[in-house]
Amino acid sequence: MNIVLLGAPGAGKGTQAAFIKERYGLAHISTGDIFRANIKGGTPIGKVAKSYIDAGKLVPDEVTCELVKDRLLNGELGAGFMLDGFPRNIFQAKELDTFAKVDLCVNIDVDKSLLMDRICGRRMCSCGATYHVSTLDGATTCAKCGKPLYRRDDDNPETVEARLNTYAAQTAPLVDYYAAQGKLCTVNGGAGSPEQVFAAIAAELDKYVK
Ligand code: AP5
Ligand code: MG
Ligand code: ZN
Repeated sequence: MNIVLLGAPGAGKGTQAAFIKERYGLAHISTGDIFRANIKGGTPIGKVAKSYIDAGKLVPDEVTCELVKDRLLNGELGAGFMLDGFPRNIFQAKELDTFAKVDLCVNIDVDKSLLMDRICGRRMCSCGATYHVSTLDGATTCAKCGKPLYRRDDDNPETVEARLNTYAAQTAPLVDYYAAQGKLCTVNGGAGSPEQVFAAIAAELDKYVK
């Protein structure tokens, strides 16, 4: 099973990807995570990506598509793949269709009014765990591994505003793109806990797993 996770910044793509990976064994491929690792490592891709990410804009398609293509064609995929943050515009979606088969697009729908707080309150751990200050009870270290939590550089109000505008203009049209292919399923990502949202996603995915 190969899926695309679609959703605005802060919708819960990374949070749900962790649940989905655990239950279904899909390889989690997050272009945002790959870019951040490249920035941290000071690679040429990281140097290109940084200015775009800091501005809340999309990294150029040729860089992003090449990276995903290489990962899908040459990397370990387990029971299939789960793309988080790719495709992010119609060009990338069409490109993806030339080198991989997408079975389902899971659209995590969250009202825009919730997104700013979710992102600005997010705390991350280098082990991959994601938290929100509202449920941390003042903790500053990761409950899973004990390392200190940090904020992403692009999680400030100005950049988030730009990211939300980029999403509306360039990424939201993918909802119609996958609906037209009969591959879209939309879950309400704003009404329940992460576990409740996952239950709704799992109900959809179970239809595709033998
Ligand atoms: P990327 O890393 O993909 O960021 P994003 O799309 O902005 O999404 P986020 O990671 O911020 O949110 P999320 O949906 O994963 O939410 P999360 O689960 O963390 O991309 C970053 C940048 O890289 C882009 O701006 C762009 O520049 C570049 N880029 C990446 N891909 C690209 C591409 N294909 N092409 C070009 N450029 C690209 O949850 C958020 C918060 O909410 C957390 O605190 C979490 O605990 C909380 N939360 C989650 N679920 C719930 C719930 N049900 N109830 C309450 N709180 C919840
Ligand atoms: Mg994410
Ligand atoms: Zn951790």
